[in-house]
Amino acid sequence: MRDLFDTDDIGQPQHAELAPGAALLHGHALPLEDAILAALCEIAEAAPFRHMVTPGGFTMSVAMTNCGAAGWVTDRTGYRYDPRDPDSERPWPCMPDAFLTLARGAAAAAGYADFAPHACLINRYQPGARLSLHQDRNERDFAAPIVSVSLGLPGVFQFGGLKRNDPVRRIALHHGDVVVWGGPSRLRYHGILPLQDGAHPRLGRMRVNLTFRKAL
Ligand code: SIN
Ligand code: FE2
Repeated sequence: MRDLFDTDDIGQPQHAELAPGAALLHGHALPLEDAILAALCEIAEAAPFRHMVTPGGFTMSVAMTNCGAAGWVTDRTGYRYDPRDPDSERPWPCMPDAFLTLARGAAAAAGYADFAPHACLINRYQPGARLSLHQDRNERDFAAPIVSVSLGLPGVFQFGGLKRNDPVRRIALHHGDVVVWGGPSRLRYHGILPLQDGAHPRLGRMRVNLTFRKAL
């Protein structure tokens, strides 16, 4: 929750350009908050969050699930988009209308018309969970942007350059914020620092992130 003394907010524009082709849309998801959270509960019931294993054999601190025609998965054989949940062998839950509306609206607000995501990867961070710097490059089509929605506890987003060792900006992401990166920024390195403990009024001790991808 933001409070009166959160100086980050003072004079902050609604939309901030982070880099060419990349924007932070403050609070963009808030008007759809109730529908998004209700849909999230249903997805997590049908396809529970799980800690996946990387090809190198590490168990991720972030727990993941997906919705849409394909879901991002990792196991000892590699990273891929899979039309089925490997745990249940059933298709992933459908992409809820509220998710699609949010993703399309955010992409359009950042200058990407007609965004049509197949996949929504849902990350759940509990205190201490992190996501190290990486590029999103398992998608077939880099012409479409990534749309990333932050919910729950605030996270610190690392936004780097096209090379792993480029300087990295740190950006606080609050409940309802949306980051969009595409075009010349599509393959920028990014990650999330270890989540600080806290309690969010809607989600409790966690941060949830939705990333929408045109995967196929
Ligand atoms: C991701 O890179 O897939 C997620 C980033 C985030 O949690 O904000
Ligand atoms: Fe990513």
